Amino acid sequence: MGKQLFAFIDTRRTKMKIAIYPGSFDPITNGHLDIIKRSAKVFDEVIVLVLVNPNKKGLFDIDERVKLIEKVTSSLENVKVESYNGLLVDFMKERNSRVIIKGLRAISDFEYEFQMALMNNKLDPNVETIFMMTRAEYSYLSSSSIKQVAVFGGCIKGLVPDEIINEVLLKSKNL
Ligand code: PNS
Repeated sequence: MGKQLFAFIDTRRTKMKIAIYPGSFDPITNGHLDIIKRSAKVFDEVIVLVLVNPNKKGLFDIDERVKLIEKVTSSLENVKVESYNGLLVDFMKERNSRVIIKGLRAISDFEYEFQMALMNNKLDPNVETIFMMTRAEYSYLSSSSIKQVAVFGGCIKGLVPDEIINEVLLKSKNL
């Protein structure tokens, strides 16, 4: 009995807990980065996954988004950045992950996120979505509002990581 219990604990210890943080990230914001840093403290590995949201028109292409995220997460050892063209649950099966991380900014996010969490759980009942509340200072940030500010020449300091401000401004100016 004691041995069985020990074997159980040991398996749980050695099993890597990989969480997926999916999104459009067009571009990554300080709110996203905060969720990534906090998730990296909780899970063994966090994969930031750039996915196609068919309802959104992009500013950056998928590879550019991946590069921007890599640039601002390079110091986080257990964070990887990838992209995928398909269903999130299929990617998760390939990676042996069962946990989706999502950030919740306000009650207005709830319905959209609730639907997605239920859909993903319907597509694969092994998959669970864990929500992290966005820090109050970032609760008003969204990639779309930042793009709007940038397109019209407003200041985006403090909204996206400093290292990518110029890239976002340049891309928005050339729209
Ligand atoms: O940052 P977003 O745009 O709110 O993220 C939405 C995203 C990309 C996570 C969602 O559109 C998605 O999961 N796309 C991949 C296709 C998929 O798996 N859809 C099923 C869930 S509705």
